[in-house]
Amino acid sequence: MKNRLLPSFGRRKARKLRMASQHAYDEKLSLVNISLDSPPFDPLEKDIWLEIGFGGGEHLLAQLSQNPDVRIVGCEPFINGVAKFLLHLPEESFSRVRLWTQDSRYFLDKTTSSYFSRAFVLFPDPWPKARQHKRRLITSDFISQLSRTLKEGALLRIASDDPSYVKQIQEVLSTSPAFQHVDGPATPDPFTWSSRPEEWPSTRYEQKALSQGNPCAYMTFQKKN
Ligand SMILES: C[S@@+](CC[C@H](N)C(=O)[O-])C[C@H]1O[C@@H](n2cnc3c(N)ncnc32)[C@H](O)[C@@H]1O
Repeated sequence: MKNRLLPSFGRRKARKLRMASQHAYDEKLSLVNISLDSPPFDPLEKDIWLEIGFGGGEHLLAQLSQNPDVRIVGCEPFINGVAKFLLHLPEESFSRVRLWTQDSRYFLDKTTSSYFSRAFVLFPDPWPKARQHKRRLITSDFISQLSRTLKEGALLRIASDDPSYVKQIQEVLSTSPAFQHVDGPATPDPFTWSSRPEEWPSTRYEQKALSQGNPCAYMTFQKKN
């Protein structure tokens, strides 16, 4: 990636980390941190998944526990979120998770083609004001960058509670030659949205949205063969 990207995330750090979180961050991050010298996992592994913007890691932890044969790369630049995830990461899962703690787009750029068999982008920052839309992560450029790293047939799950972002996501994915829509709403009208599929673990952002009465759109796309 040659040009500096406009950040799609807000702050990298909020409040001071609690002692236990700081300790988890200091002790565990080096064990799972990605260096760009080699792929995070052997590309011959059958199932390597990707979660972009995992926040506090609720969904990533649930997927690790429900899928013991899967390896997962998590990308999250928000240090408090990374520390929270590491605090709850059980030791037996260390070998199955790798973290990239900067903008995922720099990591994707260095990732080999056809590497991931599934990807999640759950509740990307909505940047709701029109003047902020240029900061949104899901654009045609991002989707073609992500697509290169996905295997044929790989599933891509995206969720959002912002109707104008849902519209943008649907437009970007429906005009991408690489993906087909397989599940979830095809319109930005919240009245056409239904509840979270049972096998999708919940996230903190989602719980907050639902508690404020905001419906959420859960969409699944598949990389074409
Ligand atoms: C609204 S939060 C949602 C967090 C979590 N997925 C959830 O649902 O609770 C969006 C997250 O995406 C992260 N993010 C934004 N841009 C990103 C990027 N370019 N690469 C990786 N993560 C990013 C932010 O730091 C933030 O933690």
